Amino acid sequence: MKILIIGSGGREHAIAYKLSQSESKPELFVAPGNAGMSTIATCVPLAVDNLEGLLSFAVLEKIDLTIVGPELPLVLGIVDLFEAEGLKIFGPKRYAAQFEGSKDFTKAFLQRHHIPTAKSETHVDLTSALEALSRFTYPLVIKADGLAAGKGVIIAATKSEAETALSEIMAQRIFGNSGSKVVIEAFLKGIEASILCFVDGETILPMSPAQDYKKAMDGDEGLNTGGMGTYSPSQIIDETLMYRIQNEILNPFISGIKKDDIDFKGILFVGIMIDGDEINVLEYNVRMGDPETEVTLCRMENDLLEVIDAVLEKRLVEVKLRWSEQSAVCVIMASGGYPAEYEKDKVISGLEAVPEDVMVYHCGTKLDAEANILTNGGRVLGITAKADTLDAARTLAYQGVSKIYFEKMSYRTDIARF
Ligand code: AMP
Ligand code: GLY
Repeated sequence: MKILIIGSGGREHAIAYKLSQSESKPELFVAPGNAGMSTIATCVPLAVDNLEGLLSFAVLEKIDLTIVGPELPLVLGIVDLFEAEGLKIFGPKRYAAQFEGSKDFTKAFLQRHHIPTAKSETHVDLTSALEALSRFTYPLVIKADGLAAGKGVIIAATKSEAETALSEIMAQRIFGNSGSKVVIEAFLKGIEASILCFVDGETILPMSPAQDYKKAMDGDEGLNTGGMGTYSPSQIIDETLMYRIQNEILNPFISGIKKDDIDFKGILFVGIMIDGDEINVLEYNVRMGDPETEVTLCRMENDLLEVIDAVLEKRLVEVKLRWSEQSAVCVIMASGGYPAEYEKDKVISGLEAVPEDVMVYHCGTKLDAEANILTNGGRVLGITAKADTLDAARTLAYQGVSKIYFEKMSYRTDIARF
């Protein structure tokens, strides 16, 4: 069996690694992939938004299943395109991918189905958006409606910051066309958690929750990033809270998509804010999180391919997810400056010295002509370890980190440290 994974980050490396352990021993291809994946999969130099190129490759190579890692191809409609050719592909179609592709689509859905979320308004012109500011208290949150490479959310502490943000997004279009519509939203305080779920349209099956550290620096200082580290299982979400999340957030998602006749198959990532007894949905994503995937899949005991097949065949109700009792920690090593400007092409050394039981997932790397592994992105490596306790997993992951070097590297030292 041939599987094509689309993407080039730590998430896709973790998916590829997990699939490489599948009973059915699939032959793996990844587009475009990275240096780390090249040992377990064939890397195909096709960009994630080259839908026609990916389709031609899948047809030519007789790919049996395609798994889409990042949101962009989903939002562009890769699933519709592949399915129209009769190809099997894992992920939601273009219409349903709006849960990530449009903040307004999501807010309208949440409000329509009474799923708890922050109060918000959507605006398509600057004048009415500026007028709306007087109806909110500060801080408030301004979101460009469309995809903005994880950067389209601005937290404004004052009215003048909010006015500047609105004019930058809507008039100057700092996030491009994503800013033709904005969502203005009440600020929620609390602790964030990520719930990744398999969804087949009838059943929503949450995975064991992970905690992501979004800020660039220790102590949650600095800019928001794609995620600087994760651990699993979450210490924030206990059984009681999970029960509430299932009843107040996940089940209403299924009844909502059924009522609205939205066909959703794939992954739903629910970002929630927890503040005492209050739980609110911050966002939906329509793909696995990165670096949530790294710690989640390394604790999953099911054969991932069997779960994906169950989603595609709409028999998720039959699946019971099984999780290792162990804890997992992932520490992201990033290029200095990330998430703002950073340099690439730094030689990475020390990978061979990393303890054998530590997984090094590559997030942004490439090989040069001399087979050196070079940095090729903001987030470079996800050093992941699993052990009987969270403390032991953290110690082991940081042991791995300490062996690796590249110029201007940066990482948080407080992942899974309380
Ligand atoms: P989003 O893409 O909507 O998840 O926003 C990205 C990040 O911005 C979230 O992970 C939160 O850290 C933050 N954020 C988004 N909405 C809110 C909100 N209403 N209140 C506080 N923080 C928020
Ligand atoms: N780690 C957050 C995300 O993947 O969106």
